[in-house]
Amino acid sequence: MQRLRVNIPKREYDICIGYGLFEKVGELIGEVFGGEKIAVVTDSNVGPLYAEKFLNQLTEKGYEVKLIEIPFGEKSKSSEMLEKLYTEMLEFKITRTDLIVALGGGVVGDLTGYAAASLLRGIPFVQVPTTLLAQVDSSVGGKVAINLKQGKNLVGAFYQPKMVIIDPNCLKTLDDRILMDGMAEVIKYGAIYDSKLFELLESIKTREELFANIEEIVYNCCDIKRQVVEDDEYDTGKRMILNFGHTFGHAIEKKYNYETYTHGEGVAAGMVMACEFGEKTGVTVSGTTERMKNILMSYDLPIAVDIEKQDIIDAVAVDKKGTGSKINLILLDEIGKVVIKKIDKNDFAKY
Ligand SMILES: NC(=O)c1ccc[n+]([C@@H]2O[C@H](COP(=O)([O-])OP(=O)(O)OC[C@H]3O[C@@H](n4cnc5c(N)ncnc54)[C@H](O)[C@@H]3O)[C@@H](O)[C@H]2O)c1
Repeated sequence: MQRLRVNIPKREYDICIGYGLFEKVGELIGEVFGGEKIAVVTDSNVGPLYAEKFLNQLTEKGYEVKLIEIPFGEKSKSSEMLEKLYTEMLEFKITRTDLIVALGGGVVGDLTGYAAASLLRGIPFVQVPTTLLAQVDSSVGGKVAINLKQGKNLVGAFYQPKMVIIDPNCLKTLDDRILMDGMAEVIKYGAIYDSKLFELLESIKTREELFANIEEIVYNCCDIKRQVVEDDEYDTGKRMILNFGHTFGHAIEKKYNYETYTHGEGVAAGMVMACEFGEKTGVTVSGTTERMKNILMSYDLPIAVDIEKQDIIDAVAVDKKGTGSKINLILLDEIGKVVIKKIDKNDFAKY
């Protein structure tokens, strides 16, 4: 097992990463929790696969445990489902000295994290992410949220977990498209921060090779996210580098009503656009787009989608990372080195 310490003053926590860690959850949770009751939230796909074993580990350690299962999918990140969690947890007579565990992907993590942040003004929680995206991204950094009908992640909080427990073995039951969705974020980490990680990803040719290296890959990504979050917990500066490819990616997701392309697929095509834009404007070393396209294709991710330039311009115009007439575009200097470029929205439209 490997450990990373996230050093956020007064809210430090460990990310524990290792094959087979699901067998040690009782022990690990015991390091950060001395209370009695644990509410475990999972979804209808993850529950049948992992909940029984997981709960047994906790009851063996003497905890009183309640399992709460929500339907799988983005629709569950809703105020209705939040209310369901509140109701079930209060029926369980949970208190602020108890613990909430999120066992699942980013949907379970975001919803449960927000329930933990808000119920009784805050109950400690532990993240046990089970998708690649959740392991390398959403479980680390403390952003928790639900969606409103007006948009995604509109109600939320910064609420750090007490621990993140990552068992890469559980990625073997993921649908291939969902696994590759997470790979887009993994490739992003290599592209913005770590050329060695990018080279390792380029060298992997089969799923067997990927799984042989996955613990190391997840560790490297969490380490990058850790450093970025330690520098900018509240997302007011450096954390925006994690959005490489995302402005374009969001435009793609929106254009296709969040149905045709997954988030990772949008980000993949978005990273190609960002590389192309960077090369055209002389910011990015030439040949970077080609490398980006090749690596994405090798993980079955799209390198181009049918989208009008105006859709991109519209998305850039309303991007959260913009200030007034300027937009902060996250580009690459070269693979492994990110740059933030302040660009006039009108100039952007000319390219
Ligand atoms: N908080 C953050 O910082 C942050 C960052 C990125 C994304 N997110 C959020 O994360 C969410 C997406 O997360 P996601 O991609 O993990 O989606 P998800 O939670 O919906 O999981 C994807 C699918 O995989 C299934 N699944 C999960 N683990 C499994 C396993 N081990 N075996 C088999 N099936 C499994 C789920 O049931 C679901 O059907 C979005 O709501 C997004 O907004 C949050």
